[in-house]
Amino acid sequence: MKDYTYKKYTTEELMEVIDVFNVSPDSLSKIRTILANDPVKPDAGNFFRYYNPNSRGDRFEKMVCEKTGSKYALAVNSGTSALVAAMVAAEVGPGDEVIVPAYTFFASPSAVVVAKAIPVITEIDETLTLDPAAVEKNITSKTKAILPVHMLGLPAKMDEIRAIAAKHKIKVIEDSAQAFGGKYKGKYLGTVGDIGCVSLDAYKVIGTGEGGLVLTDDEWCYTRAQSFHDAAACWRPDRYARERKPGELFCGENYRMPEMCAAVGIAQLRKLDWINERTRAVWKQLRAEVKLPSCAKWVESNDDAGVCGYTLGMLFETQAQAVSAITAKTGLGGLAAGDTRGVRDWHVYWNWEHILEQKTVTREGCPFTCPHVGKLPAYSPNMCPKTRDIMCRLATLAISPAFDAEWASQYAAKLTADLKKLF
Ligand SMILES: Cc1ncc(COP(=O)(O)O)c(C=O)c1O
Repeated sequence: MKDYTYKKYTTEELMEVIDVFNVSPDSLSKIRTILANDPVKPDAGNFFRYYNPNSRGDRFEKMVCEKTGSKYALAVNSGTSALVAAMVAAEVGPGDEVIVPAYTFFASPSAVVVAKAIPVITEIDETLTLDPAAVEKNITSKTKAILPVHMLGLPAKMDEIRAIAAKHKIKVIEDSAQAFGGKYKGKYLGTVGDIGCVSLDAYKVIGTGEGGLVLTDDEWCYTRAQSFHDAAACWRPDRYARERKPGELFCGENYRMPEMCAAVGIAQLRKLDWINERTRAVWKQLRAEVKLPSCAKWVESNDDAGVCGYTLGMLFETQAQAVSAITAKTGLGGLAAGDTRGVRDWHVYWNWEHILEQKTVTREGCPFTCPHVGKLPAYSPNMCPKTRDIMCRLATLAISPAFDAEWASQYAAKLTADLKKLF
C-alpha cells in the first residue's frame, strides 16, 4: 500500500533551526548525515501546543511555576502581550486609570492605552522606580491599578505600593520585563503584586527571541488572561464548555507563545538563577571597591539581595558631571549626554509623544476622548520634572554574566582612577 502521509516537517526544517545557532558547516553536514539515518518524526506535535502531550509551552509554564512559586504562569509571545493580557485580566478598561512610572519602556504605558484605559504618568524617585508618595497623589476614583516597573533589574518599593493598592482596593500589576529572576524580600519579582509580567525578548535576563510571561496566584486573573491570549478562549481545558461566569468568554487576541520559543525558554530558565547570581555578585563587588567622588553616589536599591545586577547606576549632583563621566571613556553610559546612540530613548516619558500628544490608532481618539474618561492628566514633556532631573544625572554600567571577580577588581581600579582624574 502506498504511503499517503504528508510529512509537513522533515529534516529540512530541523536543519534550518540548527542553522539559526550558527553551527559550523562541518557540524551541519555531520548532523545531516546522522539525521539521514534517523529521520525526524513527522508527528512532532505540529509545533502547536494544544492537543499536544509533549507541549513545550505546558512544560515551560510548569517549570516557571516551580521556579517562581507562582500558582499560574501563562507563556505569551512578548512582554508587551503579557502587559496587555494582564490589563485585561485585571478588568482594566474604558475610563479606568493606571499609574505608570515616568521612567519605563514605552510598552508599559502603551499596554494601558491598548486596553483602552488612561496611563497616569507618575514620578520615580532616586531608586529609579515609582515614588510611592507620587503614586498616592495621583490616585483618583478612576484608578484601577498601579504598574510598578522594576527598571534595570532594580526592585520597586513593593511594600509601600501594595499598601496603597490595598487601601484603595486596586490591583498591582508588576512590569518585571527587565527583572526576571530578581527578588523583593525573598519573593521573585512578578510574584509580589497581583499579576506580574515578564519579557523574554532578546535583551532581557533570559530570552526566547520574543516571548513573555503572565504570572499570578489569582485563578480568575489567570482565566481571563488565558482567554484573552487565545483569540476566543478556544483552548481552555474544556474548550466547548459555556462560561462559568460572565467575564470568562470574550473576543481576544492570539498572543500564544510558539512551541519553538517555549523550547528555548526551558533551556534558558535552567540558567536564570546562575545568571542573576553572577551579575549580582559583580554589582555588589563594584559598589564595595569603586571609590566614588564626593559629587556622586550609588543608586540605592530597594533590596540589594534581590537586584538582578546587570546594571550598576550612579547619580551625580549635576547633569554636567554625569555627561563628563559618560563621555570620558569610563565605560559608563546613560542618557545624560543626550538621548542614547543619537536616537530618542523610549524609556523616558518626555519622548512618549504617542501619549503626550495622544496619537491614537483610530481617528476618534479612543481612549483619550472616551466619554467614560475623567479628567485627563496634564500630559507634557515637563509633567514629571523630578524624573527628568534624576535621569539626566544618571550614569550606568552594563554588567555581563560573563564578568567575574577578577574583571570586577580590574574595572573598579580603572573607574576609580578615571573618576579621580575627572572630579
Ligand atoms: C520595562 C519593559 N516593559 C515591557 C517591555 C516589553 O517587552 P517586549 O519587548 O517583550 O514586548 C520591555 C521591553 O523592553 C520593557 O523594558
